[in-house]
Amino acid sequence: MLTKWQTLENVMNITIPQHPAPHGLSSSEKAALVTRIKILLEQHNATLVAHYYTDPDLQALADETGGCVADSLEMARFGAMSSAQRIVVAGVRFMGETAKILSPDKTVLMPTLEATCSLDLGCPIDAFEAFCDEHSDRTVVVYANTSAAVKARADWVVTSSIALDVVEHLSDQGEKILWAPDRYLGAYVQQQTGADMLLWDGACVVHEEFKARGIADLLKVYPDAVVLVHPESPESVVAMADVVGSTSQLIKAAVEIDAETFIVATDRGIFYKMQQQAPDKRFLEAPTAGSGATCKSCAHCPWMAMNSLEQVEHALLMQDQEILVPVELAAKALVPLQRMLNFKA
Ligand code: 13P
Ligand code: SF4
Repeated sequence: MLTKWQTLENVMNITIPQHPAPHGLSSSEKAALVTRIKILLEQHNATLVAHYYTDPDLQALADETGGCVADSLEMARFGAMSSAQRIVVAGVRFMGETAKILSPDKTVLMPTLEATCSLDLGCPIDAFEAFCDEHSDRTVVVYANTSAAVKARADWVVTSSIALDVVEHLSDQGEKILWAPDRYLGAYVQQQTGADMLLWDGACVVHEEFKARGIADLLKVYPDAVVLVHPESPESVVAMADVVGSTSQLIKAAVEIDAETFIVATDRGIFYKMQQQAPDKRFLEAPTAGSGATCKSCAHCPWMAMNSLEQVEHALLMQDQEILVPVELAAKALVPLQRMLNFKA
């Protein structure tokens, strides 16, 4: 059977990028680069917003400069609330687009415009529109990891932080749901809420690789470990979790739960914040492959990995990695996005 990587690469003709070679800056070169970026951020009235999966250097810089390191929901909120005229989004394309849709008068720059997401790639607007048209009796709920065009076709946008609450609310009102694109998150929400949900067949190439068997083996070595799982993971992995949640919910659990060891099934970029906020605890990567398997993501998103300090400097200097969303499309996509931001559980 083809893996999702192979499906995307062979059938959809999408090339999954290799992880970039680690940049070989000496510590003094890195310090000088960070100083230059801090000056540029001030000169350009810019703020840096970084996702938890990005390089620790970027997360540290965002923290030090009054920017924000967050999950995709809080990144969206922060960009919209910030008084800065320029937002530099270190993450993947849908995060930059969301920032632009919420702040059309601001300039949104990204370290690279190439950084995308397998969920976004796996949900092209034409096929998605046809799917919605076939099931026009359903309320369309899409995950934030989608293009502006897909959001514009939706009734609601959600992130993993808020998906359960929104779907439960809709289900309580008797609404049937069309969910896209992540089938694992969709199945988890369906199982938790009992909602009537029709699922698009998409997956995250990073989370899809976590293996329940590997976690079970690790638990034999660390029987007291707490298992933290992002709901983009397969059902068998979610079934092993002590806590299932978005990136920020997993960090909160790591801080609050009184345990020494945690097995974490999400992108390893999150270890920077977990270790910072719970320095005395041990965090282990959930295994992504058994022996002999080929692991392409190895618990690190290849698109998140494209973001680097050098590219932040480049983006600020050249102002050429700008996210633009056509005005009419942005106005349509804003409606379901704003619904999410206004939603109170
Ligand atoms: P969060 O909304 O939990 O930050 O997740 C975003 C994402 O891309 C997970 O793979
Ligand atoms: Fe997309 Fe997965 Fe990367 Fe998140 S980790 S941005 S869902 S490919």
